[in-house]
This record gives sequence, C-alpha cells and structure tokens, in this order.
Amino acid sequence: MLALAVVGALVALAPLTAGQVKPPMPVWMPPPASAGLIASASTSGPNKQWTTALGNSLYFYDAQRSGNLSLGAYGNRVPWRNTTNLRDGSDWGVDLSGGFHDAGDYIKCTYPFGFTMYALSWGALSFGPGFDASNQTAYLDGTLRWGFDWLIKAHPTNDTLFVQVGNTTLDNDYWGGDLNIPLPRPSFPVNVTHPGTDVWTSTAAAFAMGAMAYDGGLWNTSQGALAPASLADTGYSATLLAHAKTLYHVANSTTKATFSESVPEVGDAYVSTGWNDTLAVAALTLAAATNDSAYYADAYNTYVKYNMTAYRGAWCWEGRTPALYVLFAEIASARPTLAAGAGLGTNLTGWQAEAEAYFDYIVAGNNGTGGLTPVQLAPGGTTPAGLVYYSPYSDNNTLQPVIALVHLLLRYAPLASSANKTADYLAFADTQIDYMLGKNPMKRPYMVGLHPNSPVNPQSAPAAGGDNVTDVRNDPPTEAHVIYGAIPGGPLRSDNFWDWRDDWVQTEPALDYSSSFPAIAAYKIATGAGDPYYVQLAAGTFVTPTGLPCDNALPCVPASKKKLSGGAIAGIAVGSVVGAALLGAVVWLVLRRRSSARGHVSPAKTQ
Ligand SMILES: *[C@@H]1O[C@H](CO)[C@@H](O)[C@H](O)[C@H]1NC(C)=O
Ligand SMILES: *[C@@H]1O[C@H](CO)[C@@H](O)[C@H](O)[C@H]1NC(C)=O
Ligand SMILES: *[C@@H]1O[C@H](CO)[C@@H](O)[C@H](O)[C@H]1NC(C)=O
Ligand SMILES: *[C@@H]1O[C@H](CO)[C@@H](O)[C@H](O)[C@H]1NC(C)=O
Ligand SMILES: *[C@@H]1O[C@H](CO)[C@@H](O)[C@H](O)[C@H]1NC(C)=O
Ligand SMILES: *[C@@H]1O[C@H](CO)[C@@H](O)[C@H](O)[C@H]1NC(C)=O
Ligand SMILES: *[C@@H]1O[C@H](CO)[C@@H](O)[C@H](O)[C@H]1NC(C)=O
Ligand SMILES: *[C@@H]1O[C@H](CO)[C@@H](O)[C@H](O)[C@H]1NC(C)=O
Ligand SMILES: *[C@@H]1O[C@H](CO)[C@@H](O)[C@H](O)[C@H]1NC(C)=O
Ligand SMILES: *[C@@H]1O[C@H](CO)[C@@H](O)[C@H](O)[C@H]1NC(C)=O
Ligand SMILES: *[C@@H]1O[C@H](CO)[C@@H](O)[C@H](O)[C@H]1NC(C)=O
Ligand SMILES: *[C@@H]1O[C@H](CO)[C@@H](O)[C@H](O)[C@H]1NC(C)=O
Repeated sequence: MLALAVVGALVALAPLTAGQVKPPMPVWMPPPASAGLIASASTSGPNKQWTTALGNSLYFYDAQRSGNLSLGAYGNRVPWRNTTNLRDGSDWGVDLSGGFHDAGDYIKCTYPFGFTMYALSWGALSFGPGFDASNQTAYLDGTLRWGFDWLIKAHPTNDTLFVQVGNTTLDNDYWGGDLNIPLPRPSFPVNVTHPGTDVWTSTAAAFAMGAMAYDGGLWNTSQGALAPASLADTGYSATLLAHAKTLYHVANSTTKATFSESVPEVGDAYVSTGWNDTLAVAALTLAAATNDSAYYADAYNTYVKYNMTAYRGAWCWEGRTPALYVLFAEIASARPTLAAGAGLGTNLTGWQAEAEAYFDYIVAGNNGTGGLTPVQLAPGGTTPAGLVYYSPYSDNNTLQPVIALVHLLLRYAPLASSANKTADYLAFADTQIDYMLGKNPMKRPYMVGLHPNSPVNPQSAPAAGGDNVTDVRNDPPTEAHVIYGAIPGGPLRSDNFWDWRDDWVQTEPALDYSSSFPAIAAYKIATGAGDPYYVQLAAGTFVTPTGLPCDNALPCVPASKKKLSGGAIAGIAVGSVVGAALLGAVVWLVLRRRSSARGHVSPAKTQ
C-alpha cells in the first residue's frame, strides 16, 4: 500500500511558521451533540451555540483533509482519520499530496474547490470579528492554508494547473476507509495546449480573495461593524496574489475552453457549462485586491460581452454570477476609483439595481410586491415550509445554494438602496438560517453532531466505517465516527428528509456545501445574535417520513417492473435476489455522486 497509516490522536504539533495564527490551548474540539440542548446564558461573550456551530463547520474541513495529517499548526484534530495519498502527483513527478477530499469520497477536484476557497476567504475578509471573538481564527487559518498550500502545489508552472487527482470511476465504486483508497490515483493538468479557462479563473479568483483575507489592507474597507479576521500574513498574501495574477493572465491570453472540454479524461464529476462567470469574477476580485482598473475593465467587459445581467440561478460551483453582482456593488460603494479609473464612472445605483433584482426575485418576488414570501415562480419557489428551491439545481442538494444565498444576503444587506430592503434581506436570511438549523417539518438541524436531532448517517466513506458496498445504508447500523460539522445535501423539495446513508442527494456532505456556513456563524457571533433555533428542539423529536425518497440517488422504479422491495432497490440484500448485472446497476445507484451523470464518459488514459 502506498497510503501510510498514522494512527489518529493529536500528534506532536509542528512548529508554527511565521504568520500562522497560534492555536488556542487546549485545542478546540466539538462538544457532544447533547450540548445542542443547552440554551446559552445571556452574557456578553460570544454566543456558545453559534461558537459551536462555527467551530464544527471548520472541524469538518479537518475531517476532509488529505495528505500528511501531522502537518499544520495544530496537527490532526480528527482521531479516526489517517494520513493518505502521499504519492498523489507522482505520475507527473510533482507533489500533489495534501488538500481536501471533495465530498463523501476521496478524489480532489480543483474546480469546485475554487468556489469553496473563495467563499471561505470572502467570509474571513468580512466577518472576522466573529472568528476572532470565538477563538476560531486559528482553525480558519489552518483550513485556508491547507487549501491554498495545495492549490499552490497544483499550480507548478504558469499555465499548468492540476484539475483533478483520482479516477472518478474507481472512486465512485469504492466504499471503505482511508487506508485502502483505490490506486492508481492519476492526476490531470490543464495547460496552454489543453486550456481550462474556467478552472484557471476559478482558482485565480480564490487566490485573489485569499490574498485579501491575509492582508486586509489590500481591501482596506469595511462594511458596518465588520472587518477581516486576524490572519495578517502579508508574505503569504503576496504569494497568493502572484498565483492569482499568473493564472488570470494565462487564462486571459489563451484560447478559451472549459477544462472538461480540454481534458475529458477527468470524467463527469464536475462538468462546467461555461467560463464567462469565473473569468469576470477573477478579474473583479483581482481589481479589488490590486486596485488596478485594468482588471475592473476586464470584469466589466466580460459582464457586458457575455450578457451576464439578470442571472437568476444559484451561487454555486457551476454558477458564480451572483457573487459578481455583490462584489460590483461592494466595489462601487467602497472603491469607486476602480471603476472611474477604467473610465466607467461611479455606478453604485446601477449595481444596486442588478443585485437587488437578483435578491428581490427570491425574497419578495419579481413583481414589485414587498414582503418576505418568495413567489413560486422564482427561481423555483420554495419548499412548502419555505426553504428556497432553485430548480433544477436543488434537486441534488438543497442546502448548499441556500447557505450561499444567505452569505450573499448578509454581505449585501448593508449596501441596499433602502433601509426597508436591508431589513427585508436580513429577516429573510434568518428564515433560511432557522429552517436549516431546525425550524423545519423534520425538526432537524442539518449539521452533523450539533444536536441530538442532527442527521447521523452522512454518506461519508471515512466516517461510516463500513465496506459493504451492497448495504451502505445499514452496514454498519450505527455510523462509526461522528463527522462533526458536516452539512449533508439536505431535505427534498417536499421538506422530507430520510437519514439514509446510501442516499447521496440527501446525506452526502461536500466541501462546497459548507463553504459559506463559517461566514454566517461568524456574522451571528459578531452581531451578538441569540441562540440558533435548534436549542428549542427536544432530543428525539425529529420526524421520520414514510414512503420512499424517489430522488436522483434512489429513484423509484415503476411498480410493474419492481422485483425488489423499496429497501432492496436502495442497495439492501441485492446479491441474494438478482444477478451480477443488476448488482452492478444497484451499486452504481448507491454510490453515484451528485452531478456525476452529466458530461462525458471517461475514455481510458494511459499514464
Ligand atoms: C479565547 O482565548 C483566550 C486566550 O486563551 C481566552 O482568554 C478567552 O476566554 C477565549 N475566549 C473564548 C470565547 O473561548
Ligand atoms: C485509520 O486507521 C485505523 C488503524 O490504524 C483504522 O482503525 C481506522 O478505521 C482508519 N480510519 C479510516 C477512516 O479508515
Ligand atoms: C497538457 O495537458 C494535457 C491534458 O491533461 C496533457 O495530456 C499534456 O501532457 C500536458 N502537456 C504538458 C506539456 O504537460
Ligand atoms: C509567468 O508569469 C509571470 C507573471 O505573470 C511572468 O512574469 C513570466 O514571464 C511568466 N513566465 C513565462 C515562462 O511565461
Ligand atoms: C485581457 O485580454 C484582453 C483582450 O486581449 C486585453 O485587452 C486586456 O488588457 C487583458 N487584461 C489584462 C489585465 O491584461
Ligand atoms: C456563461 O457561463 C455560464 C456558467 O458557467 C454558462 O452556463 C453560460 O452558458 C455561459 N454563457 C456564455 C454566453 O458563454
Ligand atoms: C441578456 O440576458 C437577459 C436575461 O437573461 C435577456 O432577457 C436578454 O434578452 C439578453 N440579451 C441579449 C442581447 O442576449
Ligand atoms: C452600471 O451598472 C449596470 C448594472 O445594473 C450596468 O448595466 C451598466 O452598464 C453600468 N454602467 C456603467 C457606466 O458602468
Ligand atoms: C406578486 O406575486 C405574489 C405572490 O405570487 C402575489 O400574491 C401578488 O398578488 C403579486 N402582485 C402583483 C402586483 O402581481
Ligand atoms: C443531479 O444528479 C443526476 C444524477 O447524477 C444528474 O443526472 C443530474 O443532471 C443532476 N442534476 C442537476 C440539476 O445537476
Ligand atoms: C418601509 O417599512 C415601513 C415600516 O415597516 C413601512 O411603513 C413602509 O411602508 C415601508 N416603505 C416602503 C417603501 O416599502
Ligand atoms: C479509471 O478507472 C477505470 C476502471 O479501472 C478505467 O477503466 C479507466 O480507464 C480509468 N480512467 C482513467 C482516466 O484513468
């Protein structure tokens, strides 16, 4: 085996490098889920429950780490995780160990990871007082560095950027712990002959936002009471900014193409539909980080050329445009010189109109009626209990786009064109936060380990502790490890949630799903909010729906064709009932990843 086993437990801490945030002693660990029942005393300190929610959301990223887990400022906080995949990149003679496993599996995917690092860094840049007051800044720093250090390795020459490590097919077919991760784990680069405009600029945007998070002086402005977290490391910031610029310049001067067009061997895990949004976001974020109007002009020209107005979809790995509207408004408010320098004048009202058209389509409907109820026509309405639903994106994960929307609402609200809108956006954000944290028909807070009603069966191969691919749901009956802070896909459009480990739509966690949660929790801490909704829920009061989910993970086949019980369709006791061909099909259903039916079938790659 190439994977090395380092038995968990907190390892000896590596010496801090200059600029790293010193972790508090003792190292912060998630409290047991029962702590979620205890209302916080109303004292002046940071809210205890929000602190736990923030701490857990960062701990989740520790549980997703790949590489040598003894590295980093506070070592391995996740005793059941082992060092893995130290030879990643060896097929190209480069070191691609490190980084994070993408979801409930073990591949590393650079394109959605750029979205994750962007959202985490943007939260760090603006909601810093919440991280600082709760002593979570060291874990924020640890998470960001673990991610950016890997992205730096994945960008070894100007144009080379590794876009995936691991074989999607092998990875989807594997169900088990982190000591036997299937090999080979091939690595796939883009470069000038095989361009990836989307992944180059997604990564450039993340680097540029990271540069500002590590040097708040680059942005040099704050909104309301908010400010950057205490991450100050100008040397690291400069390194990140240099990578951002190089990637952007390569992308801007090379034939445009998506990475999945250029490198179809990466398979179908994340096939992006375009690159105009990431190109514009990278240019605008670089404008903010450098104060260079040439980047602002690029962002604006891309926005115009590709008609990026009036986007109404989710802010997610495959749609970055909503962030563009908010960042344009932030820049127009705080740094109008950037637009002026590009010959575009001061345009706050223009960008407010663009951003508010986006939010009002969701918050109050797009027909000019005020109020907090989303209309059913836009953009997919809500679930019956009021969770925003982006159709069809939410079909495969309801919570990610809502968490991302809340992050944008909290950022934008202070910039709104009227005090009423500011209040509406904040109030609406709270309806979504409350739903997510327990005010929903299932009476479940959708974060693992936060409360006794939290989901307990996330589809995480390392946490589950099973290796029986024909009975992912029930073997073992109790998940071996609690992956604190994991946010699962979420409830279905019906508000129903089946806590079934074999249902990736509802129970699989992922890096991008969680990426705006730390910003939200930090905002709540910084603004002195009271306890999250879940403390009101008594243990064991959650609701278990009847019937079958019938979602994209566990579709219900027509009854006339059904030879198996509903449970069997979902992967139980398959071998005894059907032949090998159907077994293969059921395993495919059980382990199929979100989005993975899209795009290309992977052709063989020799290495
Ligand atoms: C943060 O850490 C400092 C220093 O260790 C300690 O004095 C303070 O009580 C901690 N605050 C919280 C909210 O844990
Ligand atoms: C980590 O290694 C230990 C043995 O050293 C093993 O018991 C445990 O299951 C491994 N963790 C995972 C997630 O596979
Ligand atoms: C450029 O990327 C392609 C696609 O991943 C790869 O086949 C090729 O070897 C790379 N070229 C160089 C010079 O690394
Ligand atoms: C790499 O990019 C840097 C910064 O954009 C540039 O100065 C340098 O000339 C580039 N090197 C090559 C070989 O293109
Ligand atoms: C990006 O490319 C365009 C078109 O070639 C060019 O006009 C622009 O100056 C470039 N942007 C930067 C920042 O170099
Ligand atoms: C712009 O990018 C988005 C998402 O990446 C894509 O869906 C859309 O088709 C692209 N538009 C153009 C005009 O290329
Ligand atoms: C630009 O996009 C908007 C919204 O999708 C659409 O209404 C409009 O027709 C588009 N304009 C052009 C010139 O394609
Ligand atoms: C002002 O912003 C709006 C976005 O609503 C944009 O359509 C318009 O072109 C901008 N005008 C200038 C001069 O930048
Ligand atoms: C706007 O939409 C809401 C919700 O569908 C509806 O109740 C209201 O009557 C509409 N208002 C107008 C002016 O069309
Ligand atoms: C959801 O996942 C299914 C199965 O992988 C896929 O076919 C579908 O395209 C995905 N839907 C969206 C909206 O991404
Ligand atoms: C703003 O809110 C106040 C108080 O809720 C309300 O009376 C007023 O009508 C609102 N104004 C607008 C323009 O909606
Ligand atoms: C991935 O693994 C599958 C199954 O072994 C194999 O058929 C395929 O060629 C591999 N793809 C790549 C790109 O290595």
